[in-house]
Amino acid sequence: MILSKRSGYAVNPILEEDVVAAELERRGKKVIKLNRGDPAVYFPTPKYIIDSYVKALKEGKTQYSDATGNKEIKAAIMQRYKSLYGLHIKEQDIVVTIGVSEALSFINDTLINPGDRAILFKPYYAQYLPKLQLSGGTPIFESYYEKDNWNIELSHLNKSIKELKESGKIKKVKYLLITNPNNPTGTVLRKEILEEIVDIANENNILLISDEIYDEIVYNNAKFTSISNLAKGVPHIILNGASKNYDSTGFRLGMAIIPEDDDLSTKLKQKFTDFARIRLSVNTPSQYAFAEAMRNTQEHKKAITYMVKEIEKRVNHSMKILKENEYIDVVEPNGAYYIFPRLHIKDLKIKNDKEFVSRVLKEEYIQLTRGSGFGDPDHFRIVSLPPKEILDYSLNRINEFCRKNAKR
Ligand SMILES: Cc1ncc(COP(=O)(O)O)c(C=O)c1O
Repeated sequence: MILSKRSGYAVNPILEEDVVAAELERRGKKVIKLNRGDPAVYFPTPKYIIDSYVKALKEGKTQYSDATGNKEIKAAIMQRYKSLYGLHIKEQDIVVTIGVSEALSFINDTLINPGDRAILFKPYYAQYLPKLQLSGGTPIFESYYEKDNWNIELSHLNKSIKELKESGKIKKVKYLLITNPNNPTGTVLRKEILEEIVDIANENNILLISDEIYDEIVYNNAKFTSISNLAKGVPHIILNGASKNYDSTGFRLGMAIIPEDDDLSTKLKQKFTDFARIRLSVNTPSQYAFAEAMRNTQEHKKAITYMVKEIEKRVNHSMKILKENEYIDVVEPNGAYYIFPRLHIKDLKIKNDKEFVSRVLKEEYIQLTRGSGFGDPDHFRIVSLPPKEILDYSLNRINEFCRKNAKR
């Protein structure tokens, strides 16, 4: 049987070393996993959320729900956006999805025909590219700019847009997708950059998508601005979910919010609903739990304040250790919980980031993710969620590994 060509796009670099890690574990080695950004591994999901999940089960809430999400969760989402951003979104602006992961599929299934384009920024969150390619789309790569704390390189973006306009290819560009705060760089994008992005999308009829799944995980005095506050009157989609801010990755709940009512936004709402209907429902008890997670703002504030303070400490502590390594450069993060160092590959007896990550796993038993998996070779991504002792041990091992493999 010949498999589909498309199936070749189903690659996740974050998990690609799992088989090697499992084999090492089978041989009795303890592997430290700094590859997967799962807060619930280190910060147990808050009890008030677990309790409401159990309550929903005990009350027999085990049926299919409305395909686009039940009334409780939509009301809680509306309340969250009103209290955090002063937004008045309507129930019909919301489609609840199986994580942001499914919302990304809806976006591409709805918008992309073979040959269509989408603007992605390198380094991009690893799922964006395969989801676009599975629909037959082609990326136009722009960059977050390392020298400007990984903010967007606007001059380059403006130049590309000008070229696309001149060649007439701009008509093929369906969306521009940003991640704020960012995975893998840990950067919170500056407001003035976001304002320009909104203008560019608006002037060129490109749908703007902002993945804001880490919007409450912001620290080191950074200020987060939601695109929803800047893009009034401009078609846009906000992505968010239970996984990160609510520390509930395994609930598998996300949302696509389409706040505007122009022609495109109306069509998107209808089509996302159709896609939701062909998979019937998302997990029902977890919707009740996520609704309570958002509604109980007092408990949520306690939980998120503690988690973000801890993340800030852990990231800053990691940075201190990494700065002792003369074979990498690293930009200070101020959101999410990732660090994305650049390897001085020419000074190392290592070919590339793939070999680096593979050898760190086999020789030091530490699992990382290669930068090329996010479209940015010569980098690697660290998940800085574990407690201090684990970070101390593993980051010092990484530093030592670089020294051992230095050319001189
Ligand atoms: C930027 C970003 N978007 C989306 C996701 C996927 O989220 P979900 O668990 O909601 O599918 C992740 C997960 O790490 C992420 O980092």
